[in-house]
Amino acid sequence: MSRTDGNLKIAFANESQTNIEYLAYAHKAMDDGLMEIAQLFREAAGAEIVHALSHLQAMGVVRTTKENLEEASEGEDLEISSMYPKFIEEAISEGREEAVKSFTIAFEREKHHRAMFRQALRQLK
Ligand SMILES: [Fe+2]
Ligand SMILES: [Fe+2]
Repeated sequence: MSRTDGNLKIAFANESQTNIEYLAYAHKAMDDGLMEIAQLFREAAGAEIVHALSHLQAMGVVRTTKENLEEASEGEDLEISSMYPKFIEEAISEGREEAVKSFTIAFEREKHHRAMFRQALRQLK
């Protein structure tokens, strides 16, 4: 992997993460009745999506829809088969109830995503 490939990966992860953080900050500002600040966070969050999509494009990871479906089902499969079971187990052992709940909800939902992607792949073939 070249330095730029590595940098694109980091920048993509950073922009994607920032998008979600800004949306959460916007929710908080709205809860606090600070509508203008909420709007500022929402607008910036939208720009971070543009940055993330642009980096993704430069990374060349968006391929044909068939390949994208394969990639997506493999990604979901990884979360189901190794990532979330390990994370849930570790959160339980550390007594992190909220994390256990959050990981478990996502874990259950990823099964549905994987099934839907696999079904779409079969229909496409
Ligand atoms: Fe950005
Ligand atoms: Fe998913």
